[in-house]
Amino acid sequence: MVNTTVGFLQFKPELGKVKDNVERVRGIIEQAGILPRYLVLPELFSTGYAIMDAKLLMELAEDTVEGGLAVRTLRGLARKYRIYISFGIAERHKGKLYNSAVLVGPGGLIGVYRKLHLFYKENLIYTRGDMGLPVFTTGKGIRVGMIVCFDYFFPESIRTLALKGAHIILHPSNLVMPYCQTFTRVRSAENRVFVVCANRTGSEMLEGEELNFTGMSQVTSPKGDVILSVDRTFEGIEVVDISIDEAIHKSINPFNDIMKMRRTDVYFT
Ligand code: ACM
Repeated sequence: MVNTTVGFLQFKPELGKVKDNVERVRGIIEQAGILPRYLVLPELFSTGYAIMDAKLLMELAEDTVEGGLAVRTLRGLARKYRIYISFGIAERHKGKLYNSAVLVGPGGLIGVYRKLHLFYKENLIYTRGDMGLPVFTTGKGIRVGMIVCFDYFFPESIRTLALKGAHIILHPSNLVMPYCQTFTRVRSAENRVFVVCANRTGSEMLEGEELNFTGMSQVTSPKGDVILSVDRTFEGIEVVDISIDEAIHKSINPFNDIMKMRRTDVYFT
């Protein structure tokens, strides 16, 4: 039996205030009564969401190898508490901006995922991801993959990570539509993986349009159950125990291994 804990940090980032947002997150982590082994933060947690000025965003964004304030701070916290943290940032790389998720662990930077499916006006400012869907092996052989927010809408994202052996999907988000909490229950069940979705709260103006972020971060299990959830306005960290064995075994009865029986000879790809 391989048991571990997962959880999310839900909060309200302040638009453009990187230092304040990083300090707020540090405070929430430092003061949490209990931390999960795998902690997920929202998408674009350090900058906020609705920045459409490329020059400004380029200044606030971080190079993940060099590490700006967010990457360095989270790297330090992961080392101090011996945990894994996945968080969303605006990534600056070779003159381009990516909406990325970073994974750090007790030993430092583990990897980066660049959002493949950009949502709405993100298409005007970010470049589409070019690093595929990597899976990272962490402690006790637990394998994790990352997606960012709207990627959940595309079944291929989590299916690909599950086929590559991921047990846990870390999902930094800034959700504004009502679908994710339902869709990821299905994604969890159809792939028999855990999905840890960290959403944000509050609202922002995007070029005159109000975006209301839906909160309701949640963890779903390989059986499709919601095993942890909070409301729209919760701020803080919540944690749940999981057994990785549930995500290893893909059979739902002696005849149906849902990965092995896939009819790849028929499917349209
Ligand atoms: C989203 O992808 N931030 C909705």
